[in-house]
Amino acid sequence: MTGKIITIAQQKGGSGKTTLAAHLAVAAARLHGKTVAIVDTDPQGSLGRWFMARTERSDGAEPDMGFRTASAWGARYEAQSLAKDYDIVIIDTPPKMGVDGRPAIETADVVLIPVSPSPVDLWATEPTLEMAGDAKKPAIMVLNRANTRARLTGEMALALKDMGATAARTMIGNRVIFASSMGHGSSVLEAQSKGLAAQEICDVAEEVLKSAA
Ligand SMILES: Nc1ncnc2c1ncn2[C@@H]1O[C@H](COP(=O)(O)OP(=O)(O)O)[C@@H](O)[C@H]1O
Ligand SMILES: [Mg+2]
Repeated sequence: MTGKIITIAQQKGGSGKTTLAAHLAVAAARLHGKTVAIVDTDPQGSLGRWFMARTERSDGAEPDMGFRTASAWGARYEAQSLAKDYDIVIIDTPPKMGVDGRPAIETADVVLIPVSPSPVDLWATEPTLEMAGDAKKPAIMVLNRANTRARLTGEMALALKDMGATAARTMIGNRVIFASSMGHGSSVLEAQSKGLAAQEICDVAEEVLKSAA
């Protein structure tokens, strides 16, 4: 078996990479019945801290989720070795990774680029889009911290089209529950399973898993 590798990258810090990585991992496991491993290549280790907090929860967090840390250049090796044992491998990356990030991009089946819906944040995605393009990897932007749960329309859609980028149809709203649930090793899927945040993650995960398949 060879699992699918999803790399989450974006030069800008605070765009939601780690949040998306964790939520996608939980969604793939709980909603799609996939075995999932996560790889933290950010020396800050936020995804690792979330994972550790998750392993201490008593409410049935996936007992078999895999976790590794890796340097930027080690990402390809770690992810490929995990892909032998897991359906889905998710790589979280640091901001400002520059060309060091190539192995994580080159080993991906799909690259996800979280971006807040502002022109400045859009510009920050260019290096990552370019790297994905060079490696001939499909890249999907995920608009994060949007103010409304609206489908992608209008100005933003045009700007993305100009950049030659594809965006997920579902945007993720700016919702406190994303931050608060992660702090406890949880996710919006458990903390507010019937809420809008959970619905957004469910929709985004479905799109992303389809594109990686
Ligand atoms: N959709 C969202 N709604 C509210 N807060 C968010 C959302 N996405 C991310 N955050 C918060 O923004 C901050 C940065 O997110 P994070 O995932 O750590 O970004 P990155 O990994 O790209 O640096 C964190 O405090 C996180 O909890
Ligand atoms: Mg991060």
